[in-house]
Amino acid sequence: MSPVPGILYAANWKMHLGPVGAAEYVARFLARVPASPGRDLWFFPPAVSLAAVAAAFRGRPDVLVGAQDAHWEPKGAFTGAVSMPMVAEAGARAVLVGHSERRHVFGETDAETGRKVRAALEQGLLPLLCVGEKLAERDAGRTAAVVVRQLEAALAGVGADGLGHLVVAYEPVWAIGTGRNAQPADAAAVHAVIRDWLAARGAPADLRVLYGGSVKAENVVALLAAPGVDGVLVGGASLDPEGWADIVGSS
Ligand code: PGA
Repeated sequence: MSPVPGILYAANWKMHLGPVGAAEYVARFLARVPASPGRDLWFFPPAVSLAAVAAAFRGRPDVLVGAQDAHWEPKGAFTGAVSMPMVAEAGARAVLVGHSERRHVFGETDAETGRKVRAALEQGLLPLLCVGEKLAERDAGRTAAVVVRQLEAALAGVGADGLGHLVVAYEPVWAIGTGRNAQPADAAAVHAVIRDWLAARGAPADLRVLYGGSVKAENVVALLAAPGVDGVLVGGASLDPEGWADIVGSS
């Protein structure tokens, strides 16, 4: 990572790119994207591809590899799950927590996001905590209340030290994978709510808050120009290595 936090481009591959496809992706991406000061590149491959992606990016200090999810228990009878120590051993240095697909497809609760954030910090992993409202909540004028509730649950018991190792992503659920992104001014308004909440709890001023939800080449510059937007968390538009290379080269 840069000594001074740079713009953070985070790629969430979701359930795409196994170890072979992921290694091919990284080779194509590296051929186009040199390290650049003031820019951090984070990649969240599926768990089975973590080791391959971490190995392929070795020697690139601007790149960090993270897991898309991990259980809060270090080990045990949890068929199908992977733990924080396991993903760290495979090369992860960060972990997504509370992505909307974990919350709304897999039924993850607010309380579980809190357990995961604490387990990640104990493991020395950087949690990238995702928060965001559903369309009905937005239409009911409850965006700020939902985001604050999610922050309170996920960060209960996390002190200023833990907040110093955290990144937050505002990802309105209605914008994820729909092609419909938040307008930069709307994103900025929610980012301000998030920043105020974090600042009141002693978070460092340089804690990064990302925007996510249908970010693509056509809107990334405007979204990054919005006040308080320190980077982007991108799903669909990060899956093509040349397309993603163009996006991370756009600022
Ligand atoms: P999208 O996904 O860019 O495909 O909307 C974003 C995310 O889920 O993090």
